[in-house]
Amino acid sequence: MKFYITTPLYYVNAEPHVGHTYTTVAADCLARFYRMKGYDVFFLTGTDEHGQKIYEASKKEGLTPIELADRVSEIFKNMWEKINISYDRFIRTTEKQHEEVVKKVFKNLLEKGELYKGEYKGFYCVHCESYVNVEDKTKPICPDCKRDISEISETSYFFKLSKYQNILENIIENTEFVKPDFRKNEVLNFVKIGLSDLSITRRNVAWGIESPTDEKYTIYVWFDALLNYLSGIGYLYDEETFKKYWPPDVQLIGKDIMRFHHIIWPAILLSLNLPLPKKIFAHGWWISGKEKISKSKGNIISPEYFINEYGPDPFRFFLLREIPFGLDGEFSEENFKKRYNSDLVNDFGNLLNRTLNLIEKKFNDYVPEGEIDNQIIEISYDVYKKFSEKIENISFSEAIEEIWKLVVFLNKYLDEKTPWRETANSEKTIISVFYGIRNLLIFLYPFIPQTCEKMANMLGLKIEEIKKLGNFKIKYSGRIKIGKREIIFYRKK
Ligand code: MSP
Repeated sequence: MKFYITTPLYYVNAEPHVGHTYTTVAADCLARFYRMKGYDVFFLTGTDEHGQKIYEASKKEGLTPIELADRVSEIFKNMWEKINISYDRFIRTTEKQHEEVVKKVFKNLLEKGELYKGEYKGFYCVHCESYVNVEDKTKPICPDCKRDISEISETSYFFKLSKYQNILENIIENTEFVKPDFRKNEVLNFVKIGLSDLSITRRNVAWGIESPTDEKYTIYVWFDALLNYLSGIGYLYDEETFKKYWPPDVQLIGKDIMRFHHIIWPAILLSLNLPLPKKIFAHGWWISGKEKISKSKGNIISPEYFINEYGPDPFRFFLLREIPFGLDGEFSEENFKKRYNSDLVNDFGNLLNRTLNLIEKKFNDYVPEGEIDNQIIEISYDVYKKFSEKIENISFSEAIEEIWKLVVFLNKYLDEKTPWRETANSEKTIISVFYGIRNLLIFLYPFIPQTCEKMANMLGLKIEEIKKLGNFKIKYSGRIKIGKREIIFYRKK
């Protein structure tokens, strides 16, 4: 079984902030989960480097566009390394390979009659890199970002988007293509208003992929960027890889780029006779002070601060646990700290410490041998089933809630069994809790991989053992000696 997952390609005009890390951490969690299930996973991410917006940003910084792109794409890669993003490929739209694919697709579509030459007269928002309709033509502002925009009038190549109107309505209504479900109507209403053909070249934007048939034009940045999902896995140059992974199983995007992904993207694929992605899931926004977190709003929350202050895993954990994926949420340090202290320090960290203390004091660092309490086997199976369903449904916070039932259960179990007392049957309790924690490490690995590895080391478990989901069904093997201990989560005031 294969699993192909993608994130959007991030514009290189801004350094990674909380919004970008959100999509990428979520994709990483899914990629890790499916690898643990034994799937052949391909996880694609990267940077979007062409177009007027990037060109203007580079000029502001006194750089050439490619200098800016080289610099910022490296910053993205470094950030992904810091928070342990296990992507299989990081694609840049300025790569030769990608550019060749875009040119070939353009040429194919032209030859197939899916493109035609015409005149575009209308408004264009550089910030959104989008052709937009405006209400008041005397004071034109972008309906999405509300910035001032201007009218352009130029000859252009058009893609026959309008001819896909009915088929798109049908797909949106009757398949899993648009996720979550409550977003369907929004997309549908937009399609029902009527789709116009889409201008896919620019006449006066030099920073872009040149049209293969007419060098006066560069290819519209969204048309270029969307094709990365094809070029990233070998379309038109590595048919074997392409055949193996196409179509995407899940594509993650933010709700602001739904129209591009839920309308233009499938229409392009239909015109190429390619199967559509199974699901394109739009998540909500992180908000700060009532506004979307973004460079232009000046309310950036730096992932670095949280990573340095709390560690990469608490940051990943907060993003996935705090807000149901799909809805908007307020990002504040106060909420972060609360979540960190209660879930990671009190519940999870304490459980581990208590157990390691007992093994050290009562059993000289060796996990006692014997039978595991059936109750803990049963709850492990139950939690496994429920959290897998939630994660497959792309409900990260609910998946963690399910896993937390086991954390809470094990803490309570220790309280009730009081294995620290002289008289207690502490062997069975410790073995059972040890097995329960081992299962927690398996279940939590997609969310907080580094922590699970560290904890596995402390517990004397093999890392490989926790990287396979099905292993929760078997008992750890052999006589286990616990390893060196360290505090992973420090309480924050
Ligand atoms: N380059 C395009 C995508 C091309 S995909 C073929 C783009 N780039 S972006 O850098 O502006 O944004 C990328 C993603 O980050 C979007 O999915 C967007 O929703 C997400 N986020 C940016 N700010 C965000 C928040 N404040 N909160 C959550 N995610 C948001 O669009």
